[in-house]
Amino acid sequence: MSAESLESREARPGIDPRRTRMVLHGIGGALPRRVVTNEELARTLDTSDEWITSRTGIRARHVVDPATATSDLAVAAARRALEHADVTSVDLVIVATSTPDHRCPATAPDVAARLGLGTVPAFDLAAVCSGFVYGLAQADALIRSGSAQRVLLIGADAFTTLVDPADRSNAVIFGDGAGAVVLGAGSEADGGAFGPFRLGSDGGGLELIRVEAGGSRSPEVDRTDPSAWFAMQGRAVFAAAVAAMADSCRGVLAEAGWTSDDVDHLVAHQANRRILTMVAASIGIPVERAVLHLDRVGNTSAASIPLAMAAHAGAFETGARVLLTAFGGGTTWGAGALTWPSFSAPTIDLV
Ligand code: ACO
Repeated sequence: MSAESLESREARPGIDPRRTRMVLHGIGGALPRRVVTNEELARTLDTSDEWITSRTGIRARHVVDPATATSDLAVAAARRALEHADVTSVDLVIVATSTPDHRCPATAPDVAARLGLGTVPAFDLAAVCSGFVYGLAQADALIRSGSAQRVLLIGADAFTTLVDPADRSNAVIFGDGAGAVVLGAGSEADGGAFGPFRLGSDGGGLELIRVEAGGSRSPEVDRTDPSAWFAMQGRAVFAAAVAAMADSCRGVLAEAGWTSDDVDHLVAHQANRRILTMVAASIGIPVERAVLHLDRVGNTSAASIPLAMAAHAGAFETGARVLLTAFGGGTTWGAGALTWPSFSAPTIDLV
């Protein structure tokens, strides 16, 4: 991407994109300090711990205070990932988010500057809850082609800022957070190698998950009107999410030459425990191998997969085969394969 990365590419004559693999070098996370339990929500909403737990598996979520923005979570998570990878420079920053600090400009350049990463290219990627998997696939293409040597990918969302606090259907589901990974060029022998990936979208599902107002089609935002807030057709999203995640997982397994028995850990987007169970069953992976992190953090959108990996890294054996998959607004979906590297325990900061 940068002049330096092109030079370093030239300094590695004979680079063969077919053999270069994107490798996981470090991971970190950040969560807002404030924890909101189901019981606390039930004090102001017509809901109960029993309903939320049985329908979603969520028991608590972390929620930003008014002074904390998506970039604050992103910077904290990225610092931890850079420390974990033991690096101080990258040649590209991608922030996957659908809750940028501002409608314009993107959040990534600010995050890169605050991390002291210089004038590297930096951009946001908007694929809602699939943003992190989309970002991995994008970084993978750039690294394998030699266009980038080291990429910082952050999935960060303050989704509670989009949800009407009085809307019991959605207010119980979402939490805020960020997860970050440092990705570099390596080989399969290095451990931590990614690939293949499968991505998809269906704009016919636009209305399933949407914030109607605030974009160029409808710029006026009146927070007393439902159009200002996040809206989701939960049951239709549930069915579409199970089908698309299972299908993209099957595609990745076939291309990787893995069977469902080979998968040690399924890290699926943390939206609903029932969805995780159904995706695992549909692809023939025992449900015990599906990582469950949503009980503590809810649906953190683009942060969900890296946060789940950071929280469960201690239980992942070196060389474990990890299958990642997500589904989100758009609609969008994707899956990818990863062989777990030899790692010290990552850190999730409270900010
Ligand atoms: N407490 C009590 N009752 C509630 C609550 C609540 N918090 N929320 C809804 N209800 C009620 C409804 O009003 C409805 O009542 P009714 O039957 O009298 O009309 C009843 O519970 C059932 O509502 P449903 O919406 O049908 O409940 P469902 O079992 O489908 O669960 C949920 C809702 C949790 C949202 C589920 O549909 C789901 O997880 N969907 C998928 C979400 C997802 O995967 N999102 C991923 C992408 S998100 C993104 O990209 C940003």
